Amino acid sequence: MKTKKSLAKEEAAPRLNFKTSWTYQPALESTAPARIAGRYELFIGGKFVAPAGGKYFPTINPATESKLSEVAEAGEKDVDQAVRAARAAKEGAWGRMPAKERGKYLFRIARMIQERSRELVVTETLDGGKPIRESRMVDIPLAANHFFYYAGWADKLEYAFPARRARPVGVAGQIIPWNFPLLMAAWKIAPALAAGNTVVLKPAETTPLSALKLAEIIQEADLPPGVVNVITGAGATGAALVAHPGIDKVAFTGSTEVGKNIQKAIAGSGKRCTLELGGKSAHIIFEDAALDQAVEGIVDGIFFNQGHVCCAGSRLFVQESVAKQVIRRLRDRMETLIVGDPLDKNTDIGAINSKPQLEKIESYVKAGLAEGASCYQPECALPKKGYFHRPVLFTDVAQSHRVSQEEIFGPVLAIQTFRTIEEVVEKANNTPYGLAGGVWSDKGAKVFSVTSQLRAGVVWANTYNKFDPTSPFGGYKESGLGREGGLHGLAPYLELS
Ligand code: NAI
Ligand code: MG
Repeated sequence: MKTKKSLAKEEAAPRLNFKTSWTYQPALESTAPARIAGRYELFIGGKFVAPAGGKYFPTINPATESKLSEVAEAGEKDVDQAVRAARAAKEGAWGRMPAKERGKYLFRIARMIQERSRELVVTETLDGGKPIRESRMVDIPLAANHFFYYAGWADKLEYAFPARRARPVGVAGQIIPWNFPLLMAAWKIAPALAAGNTVVLKPAETTPLSALKLAEIIQEADLPPGVVNVITGAGATGAALVAHPGIDKVAFTGSTEVGKNIQKAIAGSGKRCTLELGGKSAHIIFEDAALDQAVEGIVDGIFFNQGHVCCAGSRLFVQESVAKQVIRRLRDRMETLIVGDPLDKNTDIGAINSKPQLEKIESYVKAGLAEGASCYQPECALPKKGYFHRPVLFTDVAQSHRVSQEEIFGPVLAIQTFRTIEEVVEKANNTPYGLAGGVWSDKGAKVFSVTSQLRAGVVWANTYNKFDPTSPFGGYKESGLGREGGLHGLAPYLELS
C-alpha cells in the first residue's frame, strides 16, 4: 500500500545511475536465415510474374539504409490481372471446394509459417526495422495462430452463425500497412479464405518482403491458383485495387486519411468495407494501481515497436496524487531502454520504419516543445546510420496540444494528470479516435466502471497490448469500421441471410 509517507520517501531517495549499473554484450541475430532474393515479382494466379510496366522499386533496411531487394510495381493492368485471377478461383476450384478441404489449406499455411518462422522473423526485422525480439515473440507466432484459428472455422460456419445461411462475399481487395506486415496479412487473408472468398493483397511499399514470402508458402501449400494474389506497389496500386469494379469488399489498415479516401472512392458502389485506422489511445493510472506494473505496461504500450502500433498507448492520464512517482519511475525505466540495432536480441526500440515517418515524429516533438510542453529523453547513443529516435516523455501537456490530440506513430508519450473519474473519462474520450485504452487500478468496480465509459474498441485492464486471434479488434469514431479477429472478424467476409 502506498502511503503518503512512503511516497514522499521514494521521491527523496537518490536515483540509481542505470548507465553505470550494467551493460549488455551485443547479441546479434544472423541475417543469413532471411534468404532474401535480389528481386521479387508479383504473385498472380499462382505464379510469380513480371509487372506489365516493367517497373521495380527498392525496399531498404531502415536500420542501415541499405537496399535489401527490389520489388515489382503493379500498375492498373497487373491489378486487373490479379482481380481476374481471384474471380476465376472464386468461381472455379475454390468456390466448389468443400469447406473441410478449405480448412486443411489454412492449417497447412499455419504450419508452414511455423516451419519457416526463423526466416520470416529475420526478414520482418530487416525489412521493417522492428526489434527481433518482437518479430519472434509477437508477429510471426500470432500470424500462424490466426491461420490456425480461422482454419478451425472453415467447416463450421453454420455453428458460427446459427440459423443463418453463410455465403462468401466474393473477391476481397486487402491493403495493409508496414507496422506488422505478416501479421496484418494473416489478419486479412485467414478469415477471408475460411469464409470461402478469394483475395488480392497489397502490402505496404516499405515492407513487402514477408507478404511475398507468404506468397511462396501459399504456392508451396498448393492452394488453387488465384485464391491468394499478392501485388506490390505504393498508394497508386492500392487506389487501383480499391477502384477495380471486380472486387466485392475492401479491407484496409492504415492511416485515417487514406481510410477516408477509400470510403469516398467506393461510395455508392455497393462494395463492402472494413477499415482499421489510427488511434490516440489513453492509459489511465489510478492511485490505487500497482505502479511498477503500470509503468511496465505504459512502456510496453508506447515504446513497443517504436510506437508504430495503431493501438499505442500514446496518452497517459495519471491521478494527481501519484503523478510524481509515476513520472519518476517512468523516467528511470526509460533510462534502461536500449535503442539500436533491431537484430540485437537486447534491443527494446528498433529503427523507425522510414525517413518520412522519422521526420513526422521529429516534427511532432518540435510542435510539443513549441506549444509549451516539457520534454524528457534518456541520453542513450543512437547508431550513426539508419532511422532512429530516442523515446520521448512530454509533461506539462494541455488537452489542446497537438501531441495529445494527433496520432504520431512514434515513441512519444504525452502525460496529463486528473483528480476524478468523471474528469479522466471526459479527457480520455476527447479525441477524434477510439481504438484502444488501458485502465490501471486495484479496484475491480472502478475498472469496470471506467472501461465501460471509454469510447474505444479494446480496453485492457492492468495489462496492455495483449492479442489473441479469438478476440475482436477495431475502433470507434475515426479509428475505423468493423472488427477483425474472432467471429466478429469472420462476419464481414460473409453474406449472412
Ligand atoms: P498509409 O495509410 O498511406 O499506408 C497504408 C497502406 O495504404 C499502404 O499499403 C499504402 O501503400 C496504401 N495506400 C496509400 N495510399 C492509398 C490510397 N490512396 N488508396 C489505397 N491504398 C493506399 O500510411 P503511411 O503513409 O504509411 O503512414 C502515415 C501515417 O498513417 C502514419 O504516420 C500513422 O500515423 C498512420 N498509420 C496507421 C497505421 C495503423 O495501423 N492504423 C498503419 C500505418 C500508418
Ligand atoms: Mg523495407
